[in-house]
Amino acid sequence: MSGAVYIRTFGCQMNAYDSGRMLDLLAESRGYAPVEDPAAADLIILNTCHVREKAEEKLFSELGRLKKLTAGRRVIFAVGGCVGQTEGRLIFKRAPYVDLVFGPQNYHRLPDFLTRLEQGESRLWDVDIPTEAKFDELPAVRSAGPIGSVTVQEGCDKFCTYCVVPFTRGREWSRSVERVVEEVEGLVRQGAVEIQLLGQNVNAYQSLDREGVVHDLALLIRRVALIDGVRRLRFITSHPADMNADLVEVFADVPQLAPYLHLPIQSGSDRILQAMGRGHTAAEYLAWVERLRAACPDLALASDFIVGFPGETEADFQDTLNLAERVGYDHAYSFKYSARPGTQAAQLPDPVPEPEIAARLARLQKVLERHQLAGNRRQVGRVEEVLVEGPSRPGSGELAGRDGTWRKVNFPGPESWIGTLVPVRIVEGMPNSLRGVPVVAP
Ligand code: 5AD
Ligand code: SF4
Repeated sequence: MSGAVYIRTFGCQMNAYDSGRMLDLLAESRGYAPVEDPAAADLIILNTCHVREKAEEKLFSELGRLKKLTAGRRVIFAVGGCVGQTEGRLIFKRAPYVDLVFGPQNYHRLPDFLTRLEQGESRLWDVDIPTEAKFDELPAVRSAGPIGSVTVQEGCDKFCTYCVVPFTRGREWSRSVERVVEEVEGLVRQGAVEIQLLGQNVNAYQSLDREGVVHDLALLIRRVALIDGVRRLRFITSHPADMNADLVEVFADVPQLAPYLHLPIQSGSDRILQAMGRGHTAAEYLAWVERLRAACPDLALASDFIVGFPGETEADFQDTLNLAERVGYDHAYSFKYSARPGTQAAQLPDPVPEPEIAARLARLQKVLERHQLAGNRRQVGRVEEVLVEGPSRPGSGELAGRDGTWRKVNFPGPESWIGTLVPVRIVEGMPNSLRGVPVVAP
């Protein structure tokens, strides 16, 4: 069996990484070529996210749409990722034409799953979290753009009371220093300029190298920065309870480390933080922010927020607004609380009524958007190195890329600049992007 594979990815960057690895694996083992058009595919994979309700609904509506689009043809439908992991064979109930369900920790078995389907098995379902490490079984990364991602840590032991991740991705574990270095070297050879170190809770990274030296995330960053060709580095996502002094220092010491940190707070209320099981207070979080900004004055801070956690009062929410005002985030994601099956919080009393959650979310987003716009406008006049990812729109003569703070920048320039770092003077800050002019000739 070989042919064309279409993969649609939901959720976080780790899912995006996993999708890339699945494509590499299918190409190498089965000669599958990736296609952008699902109508041309023989194998359709939906790599799913379970972190919020809507993501699940999106899965089933996307499945329905794709089924219609491919009606009358034999297409293998596979559901992988975190909904696959948690819902398992229940997916066959809502979408009986699905052939295969798997999870984020066993996609290295895809070739084997396909063989079993060829041999006549149907509605195949495997959500094992295997003891063998999937990374040892995957081929080397084949394709990379200017931004290369490497999963260095997976899973989570924090068990925040609202979160499904410990159930979908399993317990915390880290890849070895050598494997990370090898993968980064491969990405750089293929043209990656920026490297992103990924982990559900990447601050929990811990591994020995061959000499027996313990590497935490800060040391891993220092090590990866030594690799020739790594011009920019980022790490995502951090848990405030796992911050440490060294991780602050790397922002001052490692020139390639981009001035950007995604440090989710979720709520500004200590009472709610405690009910969420976050393991830190708002004041402790603010103290890290202060230290980080002292080490790196240009640091762009991003966060996640959940509004309407069970029992959240107007006063608790006010604490969240105050914290958002005080930090003045450069970027933030905010979500309505969604009870996830199997989590502790799903058992909690005192749900916040839906209209109230919606109203609070709108109030919070207004504050966050105001700070984001102010931050974007503050960039005007500065010269930023922009890593060009591609044309902003085909044929527009404009390029789009990201600066070190992860802001999107559009500017005029030739396509030959794609995949390179270009110094750009920022001339305008808009709500979601910046406009600039290059300060070098093409
Ligand atoms: N409800 C709403 N938002 C959630 N997140 C995680 N779990 C939930 C949930 N049950 C959000 C958090 C997290 C981000 C990835 O998704 O803000 O940081
Ligand atoms: Fe979604 Fe979490 Fe799974 Fe990423 S790890 S896809 S955020 S549920």
